[in-house]
Amino acid sequence: MEQSKKLSSVFMNHALANPLVLPAGVMDVSHGSMLFAVENGAGMVTMKSCTLEPRSGHPGPVVCEIEGAMINAMGLCNPGIDRGLEEIATFKKFSDVPVIASVFATNVSDFLKLTQSVNDSSADFIELNLSCPNVSSEFGTPLSASSEMVAEIVRAVKSESKLPVFAKLSPNTHDVIGIAREAEAAGADALVLINTVGPGMVIDIDARRPVISAKFGGISGPAVKPIAVKLVYQVSGAVQVPVIGMGGITSGRDVIEMLMAGASLAGVGTAIYYRGIDVFAKINAEIEEFLEMNGIESVTDIKRIEC
Ligand SMILES: Cc1cc2nc3c(=O)[nH]c(=O)nc-3n(C[C@H](O)[C@H](O)[C@H](O)COP(=O)(O)O)c2cc1C
Repeated sequence: MEQSKKLSSVFMNHALANPLVLPAGVMDVSHGSMLFAVENGAGMVTMKSCTLEPRSGHPGPVVCEIEGAMINAMGLCNPGIDRGLEEIATFKKFSDVPVIASVFATNVSDFLKLTQSVNDSSADFIELNLSCPNVSSEFGTPLSASSEMVAEIVRAVKSESKLPVFAKLSPNTHDVIGIAREAEAAGADALVLINTVGPGMVIDIDARRPVISAKFGGISGPAVKPIAVKLVYQVSGAVQVPVIGMGGITSGRDVIEMLMAGASLAGVGTAIYYRGIDVFAKINAEIEEFLEMNGIESVTDIKRIEC
């Protein structure tokens, strides 16, 4: 896809056509769906979070739309790390767009096994999903509620990983900034935030039962954007490593806002549901329009506001 130089950047030694990232778990469980996002304008993609073994996830319904947001409890359905990395290898036969391998585990030892697998793959980055809120009935509180656990896992993975390590953090804890600092001190090369908010609950009052089979689910989409912007602003002011900002980004102006909060790149997930898979191309055009109207040469000139 032909894209303007105004949108390009270099992120950790990788040339990116634009600052838009397909985040973990949204339309990315196969090489075909990741390629589809790239064909439609994504600058970088993330593979669905993979566990050591395949998981079928929760029974349906797993997702529903509410006003201004989506709620989901997929239950980490994924094909397992071996198959997930095969999908990345196939993707790489068709595209040189950087890929983040997202991994999920509940303890250090499993995170290390996942890291060893990712080391031998064609992924460009490893992302530690420390923040899934949808599996707490099985696994308890998300790891990123504990700064000690975050530090321990990041330090262990960093010592084993051949790839740059990203830590994906949860918004659902009172000390996101402290946890972000711990992750950086433990060696994280970049931070990714936010994962979904909540969990929340939606009740079908006619059926008198929760809409989501798992009862509770993580909230994403436009309603969570102010939370994401605030946390990215605070965290990017507290750490030196790059922050990939996401949560409710739906338009070019939302991306600019996230960059002004201090993000280096912007994830676009739930917006695919609202605007279609070509949301990436649409948002890129909107960013360009903003740059043009404001006489800004490059998207990389948009910096964190000081306030
Ligand atoms: C259906 C769905 C599945 C998701 N699965 C994952 C996942 O496997 N791993 C992860 O780290 N985040 C997962 N997320 C969170 C997203 O990557 C992202 O952090 C969040 O949705 C906020 O961005 P958005 O509002 O643009 O969707 C999922 C989100 C949705 C909506």
